[in-house]
Amino acid sequence: MTYHYAQLRRPITAQTRQTVVEDFPEISLIPDDDLRVKVVEAWSYALCCSDFQRITDIPPEGNPGAPVLRQGTQADHIRGVLRYAKAIGLEFETAYPETAIDWNILLAGAACHDVGKPYEFDPANRARWAQSPADAGSPTFRHSVFGMHVCLMTGLPEEVAHIAVGHSFEGLHMGVSAECTIVRQADHGWWHIAGALGLVTAESVGAISGNLRARIIK
Ligand SMILES: [Fe+2]
Ligand SMILES: [Fe+2]
Repeated sequence: MTYHYAQLRRPITAQTRQTVVEDFPEISLIPDDDLRVKVVEAWSYALCCSDFQRITDIPPEGNPGAPVLRQGTQADHIRGVLRYAKAIGLEFETAYPETAIDWNILLAGAACHDVGKPYEFDPANRARWAQSPADAGSPTFRHSVFGMHVCLMTGLPEEVAHIAVGHSFEGLHMGVSAECTIVRQADHGWWHIAGALGLVTAESVGAISGNLRARIIK
């Protein structure tokens, strides 16, 4: 059996970091300077561990194959989830000033929730897993788990890595933080509403929820 190692396929360059900032401008909303730099580094590292050149090269899918947006790229989803998580946080902080939200963790966690997608969506990885799923699993790691690895490798706090691993199905098997709960709701809500408003392909919208009925966009 051939063994595989999750590692950089090309060096991280200033150009890589520049494309992350261009494709994901909402990273600038993270208040802490150090955290913001590390989030750019996390996406740069994840991209360079794959054959994707930039975030906008990743297809607009929740999981590989379903749900799939009718148009756009992965950047549309992650940018939307960060803005949506911010809106949820602001609503509760305004209505209930006694609540405490860690905005650095919330926004960095929202920015990194899908940072494992370059790995899980990488065409070479997918072809390898499809060919011999019993060798290394299929996928070896879902994007949530690989995203946790990326966050820890690039020096982000455990609280951010926790959101990466807890934002999806894995979060059903652990206690999740308040900020992780907000990102989970923003992420899942984003896909549900995108589906309901007709932004998801007819073939893949069923993957979101059995009770969802999609409006036709005229
Ligand atoms: Fe995800
Ligand atoms: Fe997501």
